Amino acid sequence: MSRIPQTFIDELIARADIVDVVGSRVALKKAGRDYKGLCPFHNEKTPSFTVSPSKGFFHCFGCGANGTALGFLMRYDNLGFREAVEALAEMVGLPVPEVARTDPQPTDDGLIPLLHEADQLYRRHLRETPKAIEYLKRRGIDGATAGRFGLGYAPDAWDTVLKALGRGDEKRIARLLEAGLLVRGESGRVYDRFRDRIMFPIRNARGDVIGFGGRVIGAGEPKYLNSPESPVFHKGRELYGLFEARGTPGRPAEILVVEGYLDVASLAQFGVGPAVATLGTSTTADHVRRLTRLSDRVIFCFDGDHAGRKAAWRALETVLPFAGGKVEIKFLLLPEGEDPDSLVRGQGPEAFRRLMAEALPLSTFLIEELATRIDTKDVDGRARLVAEAKPLLARIPAGVYRELLIEELARLTGIEQSRFVALLEPQAAAPTRDRPAAPPPPRKGRSAIGRTITLVLHHPGAVALAGEVAGLDEVDEPGAALLRRVLELARERPDLKLAGLIERFRDDPDERHIVRLAAEEPPLVEDDTAAAAVLRDALERIVRDHAVAARKREQAEALRRARLGADGRRNLT
Ligand code: UTP
Ligand code: MN
Repeated sequence: MSRIPQTFIDELIARADIVDVVGSRVALKKAGRDYKGLCPFHNEKTPSFTVSPSKGFFHCFGCGANGTALGFLMRYDNLGFREAVEALAEMVGLPVPEVARTDPQPTDDGLIPLLHEADQLYRRHLRETPKAIEYLKRRGIDGATAGRFGLGYAPDAWDTVLKALGRGDEKRIARLLEAGLLVRGESGRVYDRFRDRIMFPIRNARGDVIGFGGRVIGAGEPKYLNSPESPVFHKGRELYGLFEARGTPGRPAEILVVEGYLDVASLAQFGVGPAVATLGTSTTADHVRRLTRLSDRVIFCFDGDHAGRKAAWRALETVLPFAGGKVEIKFLLLPEGEDPDSLVRGQGPEAFRRLMAEALPLSTFLIEELATRIDTKDVDGRARLVAEAKPLLARIPAGVYRELLIEELARLTGIEQSRFVALLEPQAAAPTRDRPAAPPPPRKGRSAIGRTITLVLHHPGAVALAGEVAGLDEVDEPGAALLRRVLELARERPDLKLAGLIERFRDDPDERHIVRLAAEEPPLVEDDTAAAAVLRDALERIVRDHAVAARKREQAEALRRARLGADGRRNLT
């Protein structure tokens, strides 16, 4: 994803002395093998902030903050990933590889010019295809907007791009495949990816076309087809409409984040915005970082349906580390059944601006959403709310903002504030005298698989020593796939250590889980050999437990079938 080679990150992490890095900003004292200090990410009087030189990892038992030297710099110095890499490289004295340093992309080995040619080709076909122009008219897109966004049309043929841009030249065809404009089928035949679609060119911040989104005309599946990731197109970084938004002078007071290409174009046409969209993926921290550089208010706008609410919650989790900063983050959930395009068209730009003005602050959205999901009238509900709030609060930087949010949540649950804060501490799971043991919220981190992942993260060298355990591939319990990934990585690269392993999961869907599991205490073992024995045991147990569970499920199923008789059997197949 990142254009900085992973091998460079590996080396950087291996070379960096996390005690030096953290120690240059926080006073640390040696305590056994580790170092301790007052956590810079929350207010505390007794040190619960630990830095482990052997693991390259810091962890605060008070607020849950943790990470590698890179993670520390990003958080403490408020740096982006690339900036943190450059800062750390400077401290370590490693030159950042040239390809990685140059922004945005001279390494495209000719992809950008080809994409530019494709853009011109699609635009020309739009001008020559009445049914495509008709469609855009029907959707209410005027000529100026189509021009501003460079809309085009991919003809209903298998070889438009292949012929016009490939020209029978193997090298060009290879590059067109890399750019995702051509596809190689199973038979080996090469053909156009986009056929009979309205084309939305996706541009990077410099204005180069780096990919496309293509919409079917009328009904059809998939509704939108997007370019795949390529050396110049990274969905986790790019935002549709960003370049076009820059056409307007001055720094915008606010920026809207919507879900669709057409939403971006429509809002622009009605003079609302500027608006940008993610590229059919969820919002990443990279996206948020870019957005917060562009404007002092970012409004995430989602459809009011169930899928929209879910997407909004995912976005909320991503923006938490930015909460309470100088950029205001808000959420706007549209009325059910509407998207920005339909709303601005149906009710006009003024109505849309009014909705924007009523967008919920992040804190309000967080609290309201928790409150609607959880009934805080009973003990169970309140305990669950605390459990759900805990990981969320841990992602918010320490400071007034978080304190106020805690105050608000304490009020909502009717728990006295100091008590609420105490409940947020890791040991909160223990029952207290005046409160019966609240149903312990299911702690995924404490599963056998989770504990094993923690062990591997702390002792990657143990994996090779433990040898292969048969049957592990068949285990399909939650977390098993992640366990296999971690095992494989550790077997390949036992030299990475905990910090290096974690960095491999940056911007990965499993990053959250990995970081949480890394912060758990591993079993106390002397060395990798001892860890290998524990690991082998644990893996064998996981396989055994899975086999037992699977057998039980089969027996139950067989019993059910027997009871249901022949009729049921027919239905079941
Ligand atoms: P929507 O399905 O909400 O479409 O997808 P839309 O933006 O309202 O488009 P119209 O109005 O029907 O033309 C929102 C976004 O999700 C991504 C696209 O980025 C799209 O703009 N998407 C959607 C896909 O990538 N693939 C799909 O099949 C559908
Ligand atoms: Mn729509």
